[in-house]
Amino acid sequence: MSVVAVIGGQWGDEGKGKVVDLLAANCQVVARYNGGNNAGHTVVNQFGKFFMHLVPSGIFSPKTVCIIGNGTVINPKSLLEELGTLRKAGAELARLLISDRAQIIMPYHLRQDQLEEAARGRGSLGTTGRGIGPAYADKHARLGIRAGDLRDEALFREKLAFILELKNRLLVQLYGAEPFFLDQVYEEYVDYARTIGPWIGDASATMRECLASGQNVLLEGAQGTMLDVDFGTYPYVTSSTTIAAGGYAGAGVPVGYPVQGVGVFKAYTSRVGGGPFPTELFDEVGERIREVGHEYGTTTGRPRRCGWLDVVASHYSVAVNGLSSIALTRMDVLDGLPCLQLCTAYKYGDQTLTTVPASVEVLQQCEPIYEEMPGWQESTSGCRTYADLPQNARRYIERLEELLTCPVDVVSVGPGREQTIVRRPFFA
Ligand code: GDP
Ligand code: IMO
Ligand code: MG
Repeated sequence: MSVVAVIGGQWGDEGKGKVVDLLAANCQVVARYNGGNNAGHTVVNQFGKFFMHLVPSGIFSPKTVCIIGNGTVINPKSLLEELGTLRKAGAELARLLISDRAQIIMPYHLRQDQLEEAARGRGSLGTTGRGIGPAYADKHARLGIRAGDLRDEALFREKLAFILELKNRLLVQLYGAEPFFLDQVYEEYVDYARTIGPWIGDASATMRECLASGQNVLLEGAQGTMLDVDFGTYPYVTSSTTIAAGGYAGAGVPVGYPVQGVGVFKAYTSRVGGGPFPTELFDEVGERIREVGHEYGTTTGRPRRCGWLDVVASHYSVAVNGLSSIALTRMDVLDGLPCLQLCTAYKYGDQTLTTVPASVEVLQQCEPIYEEMPGWQESTSGCRTYADLPQNARRYIERLEELLTCPVDVVSVGPGREQTIVRRPFFA
């Protein structure tokens, strides 16, 4: 029995979907434990190319139970669209299980997300606009609707009526926005509930049974460590616990089970949305990485900001998650660059920082201190063993292992499943 958590090591979009799809064949359970349809996990396999927003990327593995855990927030409309696409492609959906404790994203959450972003003006966070922050805020304010609530229509209506009254006061009186109508929201959600109802159940009980019977479990993180609500670049973060520890609470894994953390990192850095990014490139190298790497958001299509690999943030991520393994993706995007830079420290005034400061205002003023590495001119996308990689690519990886004090066990050289070099398997 192993529990492996696949975590975004940076600011999201590291290639978690690819890694989960690859590992799922060795797991009986794959569970999403945080976030909602702000995530976009790309999977490229024999079924086609898919953008997974909420359904675990293990759904293509024929025997794997796929759990949408209690720590997630669910937009039922978006989920139904996603399930429709997967069904058409031939994926087997009978093994999907939605936690009855997961929170439901309501239409007022989307409206609130937009209004709050607009109110922040120039300081807007650049959210995905999917209502994620307001849905988590309501969860913690104990004003949330949970998936299980949708199964009892009368009780759902009663809860919604109370919440909607408060929401409408906020929307109308604070923001001068239009109110929502109870009947309309109720009818819409009751319809969703009738369709997703059969998948809703006690997912944490299933998780405990699977663990007790010695099954391999994979926890699929969404977003990334630097977007974690506690450890990320607050307030430029998402509203959930993205780090590996979030897997315990968000998927209902009892603490007696050790979780092995696998961090997915790009061979460089990207970020979408606002907030500090010390190694961001504004020159032709940044532009080249964006174009060669097709660095445009999977969920929103926004251009991603690109830059050199931030070793300070990555090392912090290894430490905060307790990672024992790294999957390094997108090595091929660096092919042909004459030299590469690794940011090994930050300069802040006359100080040298080697870890990520809590203050976003401090981080915003940090300048990267770089170590230069030679690039490689050969194409890596056809490499299938570690020895196939150009010598300078191997040097880059080995230097990273030294700096991050963590082994790079998987190297990815393209989006396809086969474009992967596995140096050490995660599941025995
Ligand atoms: P996630 O959110 O972490 O699952 O990552 P996304 O799917 O949002 O973004 C990763 C993108 O990189 C997707 O388009 C993947 O198909 C692609 N990808 C994954 N690994 C590699 C790789 O090694 N090389 C290249 N060129 N693309 C990759
Ligand atoms: P995956 O799982 C990259 C970013 C948004 C914004 C901030 C807050 O595909 O890696 P939110 O809508 O969550 O309130 O937005 O977080 N963000 C992501 N960036 N990948 C993601 O998911 C993201 N999910 C949210 O761009 O900066
Ligand atoms: Mg993504």
